[in-house]
Amino acid sequence: MIDYKLICAQLKALAEADDNPIGLLANAAALLKEASGWHWVGFYIVKGDFLRLGPFQGPLACMRIPYGKGVCGTAWQQGHTLVVPDVEQFPGHIACSALSRSEIVVPIMSEGRVIAVLDVDSAELNAFTQSDRTGLESVCSVLEPALSAL
Ligand code: SME
Repeated sequence: MIDYKLICAQLKALAEADDNPIGLLANAAALLKEASGWHWVGFYIVKGDFLRLGPFQGPLACMRIPYGKGVCGTAWQQGHTLVVPDVEQFPGHIACSALSRSEIVVPIMSEGRVIAVLDVDSAELNAFTQSDRTGLESVCSVLEPALSAL
């Protein structure tokens, strides 16, 4: 069971201690990866018509994802969390790693627009519970105020 309350408290303290959005996202990826057995944890940042790869933990990942493409680009387009229990059943899923079996993507919103997404991949099918969904959404809400300079 991941202690999302603790992770949120740690991230809040880090955000208050220093104005460094990229460093904060890097530490968020590190905290989540260390607390879980997940395969890949990271961020994509909205730049123009693409999501561009941001801080992450895990194997090499694709550098850019177009609006509306893959799980990440679809979550950006729809503006809400997507939980994909089996990536093979998601039309257009972008396979950065052959080991990924399930995925969750949480958009980070600022002033009604998506500015980044948190993407998590698991090597297990159906890895993400409702408590992961609400926990990861609360992590993103903690990060959002510190990301205005992204
Ligand atoms: N699977 C994602 C691409 C990013 S990687 O998983 C790190 C997608 O379909 O958008």
